[in-house]
Amino acid sequence: MNAVVVRRLGGEDWRTWRRLRLAALADAPAIFHGDVEEERAYDEARWRAWTEDGVKVAAFDAGVPVGVAAGRTSADRTGVVELFGMWVRPEARGGRIAERLALEVVAWARETGHSQVELWVIGGNDSAERVYRRLGFERTGVYEVHPHDPALRKYVMTRGTRTHR
Ligand SMILES: CC(C)(COP(=O)(O)OP(=O)(O)OC[C@H]1O[C@@H](n2cnc3c(N)ncnc32)[C@H](O)[C@@H]1OP(=O)(O)O)[C@@H](O)C(=O)NCCC(=O)NCCS
Repeated sequence: MNAVVVRRLGGEDWRTWRRLRLAALADAPAIFHGDVEEERAYDEARWRAWTEDGVKVAAFDAGVPVGVAAGRTSADRTGVVELFGMWVRPEARGGRIAERLALEVVAWARETGHSQVELWVIGGNDSAERVYRRLGFERTGVYEVHPHDPALRKYVMTRGTRTHR
C-alpha cells in the first residue's frame, strides 16, 4: 500500500487546488458554499491567487490528489484562522486523511501567529464532526440557519492552536 503524503500547496500547484476544489463542490454541493459552475469559469490568475491566499493543504496517494483542506485568516477576528473546504475523495475515506489535513492547517495557523482555528459544520454531518472532536474542536454554541436549506443549522467549532495535537 502507498503511504499518503500530505503537504501544503504553492502557487505553482494551482491546478491541484482547482481539481480538488471542483471535485469537492461536485461531490457535496449541500456542504460547501461555492458554486461549481461559477468557480469552473475562474481563470489561471484567479486560481493561482486563491491557492496562495492563506493555506491550501492536499493529500496525495501515489501522486494522485485525494483530499484537501484550506485555511484563511479571519477578516474580522484577530488571531483566528477559518478552516474550510475540507474534503476527501469518497474512495479514500476512512483512513484518517482528514485529521492530517486539518492538523496541517492548525500547524500553519500556529506558525503564522494565530491562536484559534474555527470552522463551520452542518448539523448531521456526523463523520466530519467526529473528526473535528477527535482533534479537540468543540462547538461554541454559535450557529446559523443553512443558507440553502432552512431545515439545517451550521455550527461553529473552535480549538486553540497550542492545545491538543
Ligand atoms: C468528513 C471527511 C472529510 C472525513 O474524511 P476521512 O479522511 O474519511 O476521515 P476519517 O477517516 O477520520 O473518517 C471519519 C468518519 O467517516 C466515516 N467513514 C469511514 N469510511 C467511510 C467511507 N468510505 N465513506 C463515508 N464515510 C466513511 C467513518 O464512520 C469515520 O467515523 P469514525 O469517526 O467513527 O471513525 C469526508 O467524509 C468527506 O470529505 N466528507 C464530505 C465533505 C465534508 O463533509 N467535509 C467537511 C465539511 S465541515
